[in-house]
Amino acid sequence: ASGPRFHGPHQAAILTPPARATAFTSFDVTAADRRELADLLRTLTDRARFLTTGGTPAPTGITAPPPDSGILGPYVPADGGLGVTLSAGASLFDGRYGLADRAPRLLRTMPVFPDDDLDPAWCHGDLGLQLCADSPDTVLHALRDLTRHTRGGLQIRWRLDGHTAPPRPSGTPRNLFGFKDGTSGPDPRDARLMDRLVWTTADSGEPPWAAGGSYQVVRLIRMLTEFWDRIPLSEQERVIGRNRDTGAPLDGARESDPPRYAHDPQGEATPLDSHIRLAHPRTPGSEAHRLLRRSYNYDRGVAGNGTLDQGLLFCCYQRDPVRQFTTVQKRLAGEPLTDYVTPFGGGWFFAFPGVRDRADWYGRALL
Ligand code: HEM
Repeated sequence: ASGPRFHGPHQAAILTPPARATAFTSFDVTAADRRELADLLRTLTDRARFLTTGGTPAPTGITAPPPDSGILGPYVPADGGLGVTLSAGASLFDGRYGLADRAPRLLRTMPVFPDDDLDPAWCHGDLGLQLCADSPDTVLHALRDLTRHTRGGLQIRWRLDGHTAPPRPSGTPRNLFGFKDGTSGPDPRDARLMDRLVWTTADSGEPPWAAGGSYQVVRLIRMLTEFWDRIPLSEQERVIGRNRDTGAPLDGARESDPPRYAHDPQGEATPLDSHIRLAHPRTPGSEAHRLLRRSYNYDRGVAGNGTLDQGLLFCCYQRDPVRQFTTVQKRLAGEPLTDYVTPFGGGWFFAFPGVRDRADWYGRALL
């Protein structure tokens, strides 16, 4: 598959559906001052442009280290399907770089929500970097390249890798509870809807540099898969509010059927506290709270107590994290699904506007 194009008003990988593989890496910026921060962002732009476009790494001298890790062979393929999404955390605007008065209007450190069990080692960060591609080696190659070229200005804070599966047997890929995940959401091909729900603009009160960006909420959510596997299928389906095999709503037949809650006010078909009904009650007002979800499964091996360490690298984009994410998250507080999941990390970030052309770079208008 060919990758999202690099130049444009928005970062390209935000609207494309989740790829097969991802790595989300959060960094602390160690650049000494604003000039070094600008150098860092310029370098990230140049490398991301090269990595997404493909080509042969420039040769280095015979005694110098090779120009490239070599993971992808002698040249970087143009059709690697790589997507790069760079975002800033609230701490980048804490005053170190004199940017406090230019912060995106609604950017805050991720608050703690009920049922969270946050581990500080897995939270927040000055910059977020999400790499997505058709294969894990393309992702790792890009990560190696980007960290190698920014060693002087960036320190990794945390990183979580994710994956999606092919449709089984059809439709949206499944999460590790076996349910199709990503079925319902605003249509990214509807540009006017994206303007309403996803992209920030100057008229939403943002500083001018931030127009064309988007608030990115990342939640690292452990899923207690072994516990889940011990409850009846009918119970699982009531917790989620969809049929596991087909992905259809409990009052429908196909995955694409919309649930008809107005015909089910008592929640006989779809329980009132099911995940999808709380997340999106489909009342007129709740349309404004919709999220563009871009989540991946993760697998981190084994947890300390000998259980499988698996879950969801939840990611969503929105124009307003409070009106959208926080509203939905608050509605989900105490839902039956909380018995089977534990949010342990993540952060709130602001995805930079797109890099418009060869002369532009991430954050040029900010700095
Ligand atoms: C829908 C699973 C966390 C918001 C769904 C669906 C599943 C699911 C299976 C139905 C298919 C679909 O439309 O995608 C999970 C699991 C989670 C989780 C296992 C935790 C590990 C979250 C969080 C949020 C969220 C943290 C936001 C705060 C939504 C929304 C929908 C949805 C908005 C679409 C509802 C609709 O439009 O009908 N989720 N989810 N989910 N989820 Fe989650």
